[in-house]
This record gives sequence, C-alpha cells and structure tokens, in this order.
Amino acid sequence: MKPSAKKSGNPSLTTHPNGAGGTASRAVFFSGADSNPAPPFQPDAPWLAPMAGYSDLPFRLLCRRYGAAAAVSEMVSAKGLVMRQPGTNKLLDTCPEDSPLVVQLFGVEPEVLAEAVRILRDRGFRLFDLNAGCPVRKVAKTGAGAALLKDMDQLVRIVEAMAEAAGDCRVGVKLRPGFETNDVQAVENAPRLESAGASWLAFHPRFGKQMFSGTAHMELLAAFKSRTCLPVVGSGDLFSAQAGAYMIRSTGVESVMYARGALADPAVFLRHVALVRGEAAPQGLPGPAEMIREHIALARGFEDSERTLRRMRSIVPRYIRELHGAKTLRQRLTRCENFAELDEAIDEIEAIQGAAVPGNG
Ligand SMILES: Cc1cc2nc3c(=O)[nH]c(=O)nc-3n(C[C@H](O)[C@H](O)[C@H](O)COP(=O)(O)O)c2cc1C
Repeated sequence: MKPSAKKSGNPSLTTHPNGAGGTASRAVFFSGADSNPAPPFQPDAPWLAPMAGYSDLPFRLLCRRYGAAAAVSEMVSAKGLVMRQPGTNKLLDTCPEDSPLVVQLFGVEPEVLAEAVRILRDRGFRLFDLNAGCPVRKVAKTGAGAALLKDMDQLVRIVEAMAEAAGDCRVGVKLRPGFETNDVQAVENAPRLESAGASWLAFHPRFGKQMFSGTAHMELLAAFKSRTCLPVVGSGDLFSAQAGAYMIRSTGVESVMYARGALADPAVFLRHVALVRGEAAPQGLPGPAEMIREHIALARGFEDSERTLRRMRSIVPRYIRELHGAKTLRQRLTRCENFAELDEAIDEIEAIQGAAVPGNG
C-alpha cells in the first residue's frame, strides 16, 4: 500500500533553478489562485518534523509516500543563505511532489531572517519556520535556536520581521517551553507570537537544557495550546501512531509531527492516519529491509553515489533499533565501503527481521 504523494490544493507547479551556485537545487514555484496554501492542521494530517542531517529531500519523499501530510526541511542558516555560503543550497533541494514544504530557518538578527525569507520567496518557497528550539551547542552558542527562548522580546521581533517579509506567505515557529529547566517563558508568551504574525506554532515540551533526555512534558504542551488560538503541532516522544493519537486527544493540539519515530518507521504516518480515523491498521507495509532499499533508491535518484553511501551509513542504523542483533549490524553498516557491502548487510537485516516488523500484518 503506497499512496502517492499528496499535494496542497491543486496549484499549477513548475520548477525553476535556484540562484547562486545551485545546479541540482530546485524550488517549487506555485502560481495561480491557490498559490499560498496553508499547511494542513488536522488530526489525520501528521507532519514530518525537521531533523538536521535526516529530513532531506529523499527522506521527505519517502515519508510522504507513507502518509506524511506536510514536511519541514532541515534547518537552514539564515546568515548562510544571505551570505550565499556554499552548502546552503543543497538543504533547499526540492521537487513538485515535495509539497507542502516548510523551510526552517535559524538565526538571531531579525533583519537577516527577514532577508532570508525574501530570498526564499523569490525562489518560490511559500512556507517558513523559525527554529526556536534547537539546543545543540553549535546553534545555541550563537544565540539562535533554543537560546532565543532566553529573550522573548527578541524572539517576538524576529517573528514580526519574518512575517512582514513573508507578505501573503506564512510563517510558523517551532519552540520549546523555555531554555532553563522549569522556565516556561514560551508558554506564558504564546499569545505574543500570534500578535507578531505567526500562522502556526510547533511545540516540543522539553526544556532547552534537557536536550533530548527525560520525557516530554505533555502537561506543558496542553498549557501552551490553551494559551493560543493558533494551530499547534505537537512534537516529542512520538515513537508510535498510538503516541501521536494520544498526544492529540490529551493536549488538544491540532496535529503532531513525527521525528525519531519516523526515522525508525516512515510508515508511522499511515498507521497514524488509520488510527485517528478509526480505520483498520494498514496491512502489508514494508519491513525495515524493504524500506531501507526504497530509501536508498530515492536517495540515489537525487545524489551521487559517494554522498548517498556516506549518508546511508548513518541513516540505516536508525531503522533497525528494535531488531535482534542490531548492535552488531549497526557496527557492520557503519563500515560498509560500497553499495555491494551495504546490500549484503540489508540482506542480513531481511533475514532476521522475521516477525519483528512493527505493527505489520
Ligand atoms: C537528529 C535530529 C535532528 C533534529 N533537527 C532539528 C532541526 O533541525 N530543527 C528543529 O526544529 N528540530 C530538530 N529536531 C527536533 C525534532 O524536530 C523533534 O522536535 C524532537 O526530536 C522531538 O520529537 P521526538 O521525541 O518524537 O523525536 C531534531 C531531532 C533529531 C532527533
């Protein structure tokens, strides 16, 4: 069962080459009355969350095949974009089936983020997101990502600048409750983001300092939702469709975004849709080995073999966490020197996956 990629409304789509330095990069260009559609905010429209190093074009397309209703790009440095830094364009690779796509930006200065939005608009992108949740040192030490939560006035100024630059396009914000443990500034200031011009909010209820440790504080997600009229997409500890459906029921968020759960099982979106609609669980979904092969085929269609192999060595182990013998297999995967060795390792995954395929059949 492989539903085709969804499209937002039915805009007429063409592609046009990106600006500086991009031969492979293409942006979707929308034209016509339905040119700036909102992303979907319904319980049965799960999103793929932004994941640096993972939510690239091939993975987004894979997740869309298996039910993701919207996807967010890997985070893109606003400064890198404005300064035309090499490497930034690669993160903006897209194609018509990769829609609706939200491009996530990180940065600190309102005018730089606004300029980045203008550049992206000129390239045909229509949906933008501010990263106010990434706690990794490389980002937070510059004052960007989750560090923005330390200064809500600055965060609000950035959202205002981005929303103004976006014009009739839309801007969302992805954030955490606060930076320090038990700091809930973002929850208290949720109404200000709405006045600043945000169109939606994505909320991961772990404090910045928590990184990815401990569990997500679902009560904070519910409190955040209760303080804003904007659509909220919930994130955090969604490792199964059951967890996603429960988050929607228990917190009142409009939808959810899967992150690590999608890395282990891109079909989690179809499972989610069926569960939320009260339909029978989808049958005949691929197991890890088949899914890995599909992912590799998609990646090879967009990137040279060397790069695909390098990326797959780090991506494939995410698919087999639950499998018996995963540790040995993971070590073997990271040592694969060519596709023949990778194929052999996948054959082995196929041999041991047996009845352990999550929720299959
Ligand atoms: C490898 C990885 C990379 C991530 N990169 C980003 C990112 O670029 N931007 C962002 O807003 N969140 C990022 N996140 C956070 C996820 O989008 C998500 O909010 C978080 O993982 C919680 O969801 P989960 O517990 O279901 O994985 C990343 C998470 C992971 C695991």
